[in-house]
Amino acid sequence: SQSSDFIMPEIKLRADNKDDDTHLRVVDIDGYYIPTFPIEDHEKHFRSMPGWKARNDDVIISAYPKAGTHWVWEVVSMLVRRKAERIPEIKEMAMMEGITEQIFESLPSPRIMNTHVYFQYLPNDFFDKKCKIVYIIRNPKDIAVSFYNHHKKLLEYEFDGPWDNYLQRFIQGKTDYGSWFDYTLEMERFMESHPDYPIHVIYYEDMKEDSNTEIAKLARFLGTEVSDELIRNIDSLCQFDAMKKEKNVTEDVTEWRDNNPGMYRKGQVGDWKNWFTVAQSDMFDSIYQQKMAKSKTKIRFCI
Ligand code: A3P
Repeated sequence: SQSSDFIMPEIKLRADNKDDDTHLRVVDIDGYYIPTFPIEDHEKHFRSMPGWKARNDDVIISAYPKAGTHWVWEVVSMLVRRKAERIPEIKEMAMMEGITEQIFESLPSPRIMNTHVYFQYLPNDFFDKKCKIVYIIRNPKDIAVSFYNHHKKLLEYEFDGPWDNYLQRFIQGKTDYGSWFDYTLEMERFMESHPDYPIHVIYYEDMKEDSNTEIAKLARFLGTEVSDELIRNIDSLCQFDAMKKEKNVTEDVTEWRDNNPGMYRKGQVGDWKNWFTVAQSDMFDSIYQQKMAKSKTKIRFCI
């Protein structure tokens, strides 16, 4: 709902390539794109975020979209509660850019927040208080496929284009939260310029390969004492099939195309091979090499 004196800066974002006449509906904040959120005066709330007060035990899960935020949020939420019990809330209730300051204040400690925005938009106080950050990285070919399905299936985006053009759009960063390349390089810059900041990097591919070990590392980073058995139980509750079955029921089906929630889609490494042609993959590799030439981030596209 919109108040009459408030105009949402929504735009229908078009890709640059000439054969793409599709659009993606997002909100434009001075050239930075975020999704539309069903909150009155959303832009005002978003712009006020740097002034919000943090608590010392806040934890922020930070990632470009589709890197596995739901998965890691569920794991971290169970770890801090030290209970292998399904989290009744959904990740979206703790998504910084999708809530108001009032909601943020009302959340019980320790708050496990999540976000896809650049750090400049978050509360400055997070950084003054050195709140712990968990940063998730996933290979951008799987991200592109996952984001394509996300954009197609979530009705708010009004997007209905073919994969081929979408890949160009993804590379150009003409989506909410902008370019994966820019985001990843920016995170790298942050870590390099803040070598002492408590930030833990977790790769989606490592989680898929050995989630138990990765969850144990997370527990150590968070400083929560948990037994091996508890880690195993949390791990099993957070496996893809269990989450798909038990968390999907909390989704509002009307937000999805054909009333079919798609947040838990496939949950695999390498599904991109079913979508990218050989030519697309080669093109992507060469762009990746150019854009990430100086990057030290070691990403695996297969496991
Ligand atoms: P796919 O579309 O490739 O299946 P995010 O939570 O950041 O939006 O990321 C969503 C991606 O993570 C989706 O990828 C989704 O299926 C996958 N995912 C969600 N829960 C998962 C889990 N428990 N294990 C593995 N992958 C999961």
